[in-house]
Amino acid sequence: MPLTGTVRTGWPPVRVNGEGHLLIGQVDAVRLAREHGTPLYVYDEAAIRDRCREFRRAVGEAGTVAYAGKAFLCKAMVRIVEEEGLALDVVSGGELYTALAAGFPPERIVFHGNDKSPAELRTALQVGIGRIVVDNFHEIDLLAGLTEGSARRQPVLIRVAPGIEAHTHEYISTGQQDSKFGFDVATGQALEAARRILATPGLELVGLHCHIGSQIFEVEPYRLAARRLMEVAAAIRRDTGAWLREADVGGGFGVRYLPEDRPPAVAEVIAEIQAELRRCAGEYGLPVPALTVEPGRAIVAEAGYTLYTVGAVKRIPGVRTYVAVDGGMADNPRPALYGAEYTAVVANRADAPPLETVRLVGRYCESGDILIREVALADPRPGDVIAVFTTGAYHYSMASNYNRFPRPAAVLVNGAEVDVIIERETYADLVRQDRVPPRLAARGAGA
Ligand code: LLP
Repeated sequence: MPLTGTVRTGWPPVRVNGEGHLLIGQVDAVRLAREHGTPLYVYDEAAIRDRCREFRRAVGEAGTVAYAGKAFLCKAMVRIVEEEGLALDVVSGGELYTALAAGFPPERIVFHGNDKSPAELRTALQVGIGRIVVDNFHEIDLLAGLTEGSARRQPVLIRVAPGIEAHTHEYISTGQQDSKFGFDVATGQALEAARRILATPGLELVGLHCHIGSQIFEVEPYRLAARRLMEVAAAIRRDTGAWLREADVGGGFGVRYLPEDRPPAVAEVIAEIQAELRRCAGEYGLPVPALTVEPGRAIVAEAGYTLYTVGAVKRIPGVRTYVAVDGGMADNPRPALYGAEYTAVVANRADAPPLETVRLVGRYCESGDILIREVALADPRPGDVIAVFTTGAYHYSMASNYNRFPRPAAVLVNGAEVDVIIERETYADLVRQDRVPPRLAARGAGA
C-alpha cells in the first residue's frame, strides 16, 4: 500500500495512503470500517505503549505508574499494561475481575473507590491485592473486620481530599474540600484515619493518596497537592511517629482534543511534583516518599479513534448542515455530560480540504445527541466514513445501550496488524438478560 505521508501539519497529524484514506498505524481506516462495521473504536497499540513508556521514564525507577483502568479496560488492554510494567488502578469488582481474568499480578493492583462493598474488599484481600486506597471511616471498619486474625497485613493508603480546586469541569473535579471522595484534611479527619488504621493489626499504612481532577493543563495544582500530602504526612509523623513512604498524586494529566489544546509535557509535570516532594521533605526533615501517578486518559485518549458512517445529511439553507452518523451519545456521552469537544475528518477523503462547517450528530432520540457542535469537513456525503480523534478514554468505558443499540466493537492496530479486542454486541446480546414472566409470554411461545 503506497503511503503518501502527512497531509496536515500540526495536530492531529493526518496521514493518508495513495487513495487519500486516513491511516491509523499503517492501516487504512476505511478498510477497518468496511471490514469491522461502524461505529468502531480503533486503538493504536504503539501510541498506547509510547505513553506508558513516557510516564515510566518520567517517574523513574523509584516511582510507580498505575494505569487508571476506568478510562478503558478490557483483557487486551490489561495485557499491554502488564507488559509495559505499569501497575493498575481499579475501582470496582468488575475492573478487578477483568484484570485478574487477563492474568494481571494482584500485587500490582491498586483498589480505589468511595463505597467499596464488603464482597469487593473480601475478594481484594483474598487475592492479595497490592494496595487499597481507604476512602472513609466505614471502610476502615469493614477492613478491620475482614482482616481480623489474618496473617497478612494489607498495605493501605489514605485518600485525602486536599482542598485544591483544579480548573476543569465540576463533574470531573475531585480535589476540593466539599467532595464525596477521601478524608478531609482541614477538620482533622485524615489524621484520625491514620490513628485508626495504625491501631488495626491487619492493616499496614504505607502512604497517602489524592486525586485533584481530570483533564488538567496546569502544573500548579499538582505542586500544591504534593505539598498538601507532605503536610499531612508530617502531621501524622508528629502525632503517631509513623512515616508514610508513598505519595500517590492520582491522575488527571490533560490531553489534546482540539488543535489549540496545549497540555504540558508529562516529564515536566512529574519533575515539578518530585521537586516539590523533595523540597517539603527537606522542610519537614522527612525522607522523600516514592511517587505514584495514576494516569488514565493520558495513556489511552489520543491512541483512540472512533469511526462512523454518514447517513442523513440535512442542509437547512442559511441555518446549518446536520451530518448524522450511525453512533452518538451512547458510544460517546462526553459532549452531553461535560460539553467535551472533538475534531474529525472524512476518512475516505482525508487529503481533501475541510471546507464545510457542519454539526456532527448521532442517531439517538435526543436533540442533545451532538458529537461535535461545529466541525469543518470535506463535503460530507452519505456513505462517507468519519474518524473522530482522541476517543480512547472514557468512551467505550462509559458507553451504554441507549435506544437498544448494541455497543460497538473495538480493534487494536499494531503496525499493519489488526485484531478485534472487543466483539461488537449483537441484537441477541441485547435481550440476553431479559426475562418474560409466564403470564406475559407471547401466545404460542410457551413459558
Ligand atoms: N485516579 C483516581 C483516583 C481517579 O478518580 C481518576 C479519575 C484517575 C486516577 C484517572 O484520571 P485521568 O488520568 O483519566 O484524568 N469520565 C470523565 C473522567 C472521570 C475521571 C474520574 N477519575 C471524563 O470522561 O472526562
